[in-house]
Amino acid sequence: MKRVLVTRQVFPEVVARLRERFEVDHNDADVPYTPAQMAERAAMADGILATVMDKVDEDVLAAAPGLKVVSNIAVGYNNVDVAAATKRGIRVTNTPGVLDDTTADLTWALLMAAARRIAEGDAFVRRGEWKIAFTMSAFLGADLHHATLGILGMGRIGQAIAKRATGFDMRVLYHNRSRLPEADEKRLNATWVERDCLLAESDFIVVMVPYSPAVHHFIKAEDFAKMKPTAVFVNTARGGIVDDAALIEALRAKRIAAAGVDVFEGEPALNPGYLGLSNVVLTPHIGSASRATRLRMCETAVTNLTAVLEGRTPPHLVNPQVLQGDKA
Ligand code: DGY
Repeated sequence: MKRVLVTRQVFPEVVARLRERFEVDHNDADVPYTPAQMAERAAMADGILATVMDKVDEDVLAAAPGLKVVSNIAVGYNNVDVAAATKRGIRVTNTPGVLDDTTADLTWALLMAAARRIAEGDAFVRRGEWKIAFTMSAFLGADLHHATLGILGMGRIGQAIAKRATGFDMRVLYHNRSRLPEADEKRLNATWVERDCLLAESDFIVVMVPYSPAVHHFIKAEDFAKMKPTAVFVNTARGGIVDDAALIEALRAKRIAAAGVDVFEGEPALNPGYLGLSNVVLTPHIGSASRATRLRMCETAVTNLTAVLEGRTPPHLVNPQVLQGDKA
């Protein structure tokens, strides 16, 4: 029987489905493995079901001579050394499509929370500081409706974010390496603009590009300097895409008005500069965190993994070059 390592706790029905076909080593305790533990566990595995926080690097791959697939339970896969896996003929797979709407919803939750100062208001009420029932100028925020939303990165999730702007009568600008087909631009009521134009004209700015070293600090101090002082910025993409220190400084100096952040450089460690700021809403990497979506992600990952271990091409292969190596 083939052996599968599940690096973190997943839903019982997912483990049961795996156990129908494989011997399963499930990290039910849900304490993330150290690099040494990961290599030790991977050593016996034919397949790994991993989360975005599990590093599957050259050391892990080298320790696992029988490994055929790393199936990430995520759309992102920057935790996996894909080049090293490809060299070894190991398939790497992900779960695109199933989390777009849930991540778009969270992006909107952060946009609204930051714009309307929800977390600040909540903390104020809980601290018992709400003494006068109504104050004309208390907790004034920004209107989303009829404002301009700028989306940097117009893939599936970016488009799901844009779609939601229609209900708020927003003008939508986007910047992407390639323009969407005209029909999609029309459907989403979105206009392609140069990056600098987007930064300067948008009231709300969302970044939604996949992480790779090429886009490390894709948003940095000079970008915040180009935004309106009233701008609200949201990052639900990946830690490292935004220079956290630069964002903190922009928020501290009121260079921009507010932000919502779900992903951080070096998470779960947090730049302590965030903690003293009232104009930022912080969430712990929960973009895809609805039960239905997390279950769909697990199911997609199991389908990918099963396909590889049964000798088929998985539906979501991120390193198709590996198939060339099979023929060589
Ligand atoms: C992903 O899928 O890449 C997310 O970050 C995990 O929720």
